[in-house]
Amino acid sequence: MAMQKRPCLIDTDGGVDDALALLFAQHSPELDVIGVTTVAGNTDVHQATENVLRVLELDGAAHVPVAMGYAAPLEGHLERVTSIHGVDGLGELHRFKHETGESRYAPPTYKPVDTHAVDLIIESAKKYSENLSIVTLGPLTNLAEACRKAPEALRKVDRVVTMGGAFAVPGNMTPVAEFNIFADPEAAQIVLHSVLPITLVGLDVTLDVILERGIIEAGHAHIRSAKSQLIADCTELYANFYKEADDIHGFYLHDPLAVGVAIDPSFVKMSHYHVTVECRGQYTRGFTVADRRKRRRVFGQPPNCHVAESVDEDRFVRFFIDHLWPGLN
Ligand code: RIB
Ligand code: CA
Repeated sequence: MAMQKRPCLIDTDGGVDDALALLFAQHSPELDVIGVTTVAGNTDVHQATENVLRVLELDGAAHVPVAMGYAAPLEGHLERVTSIHGVDGLGELHRFKHETGESRYAPPTYKPVDTHAVDLIIESAKKYSENLSIVTLGPLTNLAEACRKAPEALRKVDRVVTMGGAFAVPGNMTPVAEFNIFADPEAAQIVLHSVLPITLVGLDVTLDVILERGIIEAGHAHIRSAKSQLIADCTELYANFYKEADDIHGFYLHDPLAVGVAIDPSFVKMSHYHVTVECRGQYTRGFTVADRRKRRRVFGQPPNCHVAESVDEDRFVRFFIDHLWPGLN
């Protein structure tokens, strides 16, 4: 019997691992990507939108509605790290040329819809209701505003899987804060104290999931498609950053693992905790504070989300490779 595809909306800040996550979701028989919304984070929201349009068009998916969202966090200003994803968010794709000297990556012809990201989220929640999964791969600005604007519509959503947070491990943006939460802690606080059923896929698990650069090169040699070429090109600088920063021979599959958990939650082991976000700390802004005490059931607040604490990394990486480079494993 054919597998029933589940409707899935992806909210993304248009970076390199976001692009891999989007391609992964597009090539998963389990998910039907019914919309993509963009938010400022790894790059500015206009560039993030162009990146999503480019990836979808190149992958033959220039039919999925793409709606642009917020250009800045709810409070404060956006702090970007262009050294990880490149100024364009996709590893400085302008560097790659054909033999003729023209750019390998022309601007996409595919255009976004006129709808704001927040309204596409709300419309999708109303249309797909308890069948809808929302996967967030960047700061939670759009989702927070959707919760404020239409809480009743969002109440019906089946689940939200969010790449974000750091619970028993250090942060990556600061010693305690993970980037997606750090970039808009007020939005994360709104989402965590909303009616949404949240699963947080944080650094506790994503730092255990590394894709080796050699797999990408072998995948491109195996398939030789525009998609495999894009993956090889956009991950070059990204892998170089992590070699220098963390001395690893590849990079973390932060966002793809969030998609993986939306497909099959059994890739991770989760616990039900109360999580709140530090929004004022001079050194701890963006810190996701989970009450993991044994006595939390007596003295703590009721749990408000599930937190992924361990991952079956070998099984997930094989699953990811099978979807992006079929036949390579
Ligand atoms: O901390 C990792 C997260 O921040 C990922 O979503 C990555 O794309 C960046 O947005
Ligand atoms: Ca991201």
